[in-house]
Amino acid sequence: MVLILLGPPGVGKGTQAVRLADDLGGAHVSTGDLLRAARRDGTELGARAQKYMDAGELVPDQLILDLVREHLAGIDPGAHVLFDGFPRTTTQATGLSEVLERSGRRVDRVVLFEAPDETIVKRLSGRRSCPECGAVYNTFFSPSRVEGKCDRCGGSLVQRPDDAPATVQRRLEVYRDQTAPLVSFYEQAGAPFERIRADRSVDDVYADFRSAMEVAG
Ligand code: AP5
Repeated sequence: MVLILLGPPGVGKGTQAVRLADDLGGAHVSTGDLLRAARRDGTELGARAQKYMDAGELVPDQLILDLVREHLAGIDPGAHVLFDGFPRTTTQATGLSEVLERSGRRVDRVVLFEAPDETIVKRLSGRRSCPECGAVYNTFFSPSRVEGKCDRCGGSLVQRPDDAPATVQRRLEVYRDQTAPLVSFYEQAGAPFERIRADRSVDDVYADFRSAMEVAG
């Protein structure tokens, strides 16, 4: 199954994708995580992406499509693939369809996670993550046992620079202008589409997400 998780920044796509990938055994492909890894590794792509990410703007489509193509080449063609934060523009969505077609696949399901801006802003202001193992916490909703330290590996937790309030506002605008049009793109394309109210507990959101996958078969 090829699944796309759509939704604004901070709505909980990554949190839900990790759970579903654990359950289904599929590959979780987050372009945000791939770009942050490229920055940590000091690659040319990471350096080119940095200014866009720090400003809350989208990284150019061609860079993203090359990154995804290269990443997909390393994934078993029969595996479930959960795209989180990709595609984000209609150019990326068209590019993805072309890549999938070449291997006889297609987008099997699109899930849109929705929450009011106030919820998103609070979640992003409280998000902390572990640069060592990637675990994600929230100072309001799911704090680590020891403040500032990762429960899993003891690493020092950090706040993403793009979670600063002004950048969050810009990311929300960019979402509305450039990514929200994908809702009608996929609805018109006839892809099975689900909307999930994400302003509830992680477990409640996951219960709906999981049952949407069962419907998908
Ligand atoms: P990316 O990393 O993809 O960021 P995003 O889409 O803005 O999404 P987030 O990671 O901020 O949020 P999320 O929805 O995954 O929420 P999470 O589960 O962490 O992209 C970053 C940047 O990279 C972009 O701005 C752009 O520059 C670039 N980029 C990436 N992909 C690109 C692309 N395809 N094209 C162009 N540019 C691209 O949850 C957030 C917090 O809330 C956490 O603390 C979590 O613990 C908590 N939480 C989650 N669910 C709940 C809940 N139900 N209740 C309470 N707390 C919750």
